[in-house]
Amino acid sequence: MSVWRLKPVSAFDADMKKSDLKRILTKWGLTSLGIGAIIGGGIFTLTGIAAHDYAGPALALSFVIAGIGCLFASLCYAEFASVLPVEGSAYAYAYGTVGELFAWFIGWNLILEYMMGATTVAVAWSGYFVKLLHLFHIDFPIWLCNDLATAIDKCHAAGIDPPSFAFNLPAFIITWIVTGILVKGIKEAASTNNIIVIVKIAVVLFVILVGAFYINTDNWTPFIPDEVTTVGENGKETVKFGFGGVLTAATIVFFAYIGFDAVSTQAGEAINPKKDVPFAIVASLVICTILYILVSLVLTGMVKYDQLDKAAPVASAFSGIGINWAVFIITIAATAGLTSVMLVMMLGQTRIFLGMAKDGLLPKGMFATLHPVFKTPYKSTILVGGIISLVASFTPIDKISEMCSMGTLLAFAMVCVAVMILRVKKPELERPYRTPAVFVVGTLGVLFNLFLMYFVRKETWIAFLVWGAIGVAVYFLYSRKNSNLNTYVEPSEE
Ligand code: ALA
Repeated sequence: MSVWRLKPVSAFDADMKKSDLKRILTKWGLTSLGIGAIIGGGIFTLTGIAAHDYAGPALALSFVIAGIGCLFASLCYAEFASVLPVEGSAYAYAYGTVGELFAWFIGWNLILEYMMGATTVAVAWSGYFVKLLHLFHIDFPIWLCNDLATAIDKCHAAGIDPPSFAFNLPAFIITWIVTGILVKGIKEAASTNNIIVIVKIAVVLFVILVGAFYINTDNWTPFIPDEVTTVGENGKETVKFGFGGVLTAATIVFFAYIGFDAVSTQAGEAINPKKDVPFAIVASLVICTILYILVSLVLTGMVKYDQLDKAAPVASAFSGIGINWAVFIITIAATAGLTSVMLVMMLGQTRIFLGMAKDGLLPKGMFATLHPVFKTPYKSTILVGGIISLVASFTPIDKISEMCSMGTLLAFAMVCVAVMILRVKKPELERPYRTPAVFVVGTLGVLFNLFLMYFVRKETWIAFLVWGAIGVAVYFLYSRKNSNLNTYVEPSEE
């Protein structure tokens, strides 16, 4: 039993024919799912810290850098999605090309991307929801809308006694609401998502079009503020601004792009996956990249970068210029928008589990049993909801989001490698979509994603290595022995 064994393309074809999932997603439905997954905490929340602390007005440049890297990965994803239009995303692609252990490892990292991505967004959602209630003069106690570490920090900052227990109740509740929608089914999820995506794009366009009238071009000078090195309480040096700062900001706003690949996890539910999934992957990424660049130019033009609010930069830029009703609209839309990111991320996670379980690498009873009426993998959806709700209730957002980015960067790099390997090993395969200049785009994709991983904090690297080691152990103790490939027989030609 080689750990390099490949899942034959004939086995993917057989899976597609057997799929019980309903095929109801169109080209624009898929694109909408992509945008639903992409626009969220990154643009509504992380732009604040990225501009304020690292990039200044050059935030737009950070978005360009992160966007170009994601574009390389998305072009590679698109080719794979056209060759292997099955649920499972990068995991499935690696299984068909690089080998079983690699595929397992990618799947294991995608858990970080989707599950930790949804968890990050649940915490961001809680932040906006609390802000929204505050507009109606309803205030949550600090201990009931934060994890303990964050609650203690906030109490210290406010000069009040810190609590000994804290629980992020809004994050817990939203996770179970989204879980309920997903158990009920993709159709409901897709139509709810379409409405939210429209609201979200409308608000982003509103920010760009209305905000443009309030740009003061003086705020863009200097475009890249001079580099400064600060030393924190723990003696750690942080480089802010300068080109190094622009790159650090690019690693932060990278989170804003995560999600375009979620489209590839929905291939099992697409009407015409070979053509529409590649289209939706690239289209959703390009649309969001353009919007992000414009939003960052507007924000840093409306407000001097050092005056931007780190918690809710978009809403506060408008309160800063006195348009208070806009704060209302933006906060409501952000709350709805973050819900749709969670929806797609959690959906993606359960579909990756489904793909892995169908291959025998995870227990089928838990991860591949579909609900008799709703036809959704309800058990794994509830399991994913349970884990997310607990992690989101007790963990600070920065720890979760970094783990998410780490898993995603590695998955993206692997997809770029895998698409090149497949071109060499199986040049004759039918490819409804071909990555342009694949060896250049693929190599740049690998280099870019590994480069960004290099910038992630040491603590996150350690956690990431531990997670990886657990994954390899599970593979050797369970998955390798239970893989369908142990008994798979290629169908004969006739
Ligand atoms: N791109 C998603 C967001 O920004 C994960 O929330």
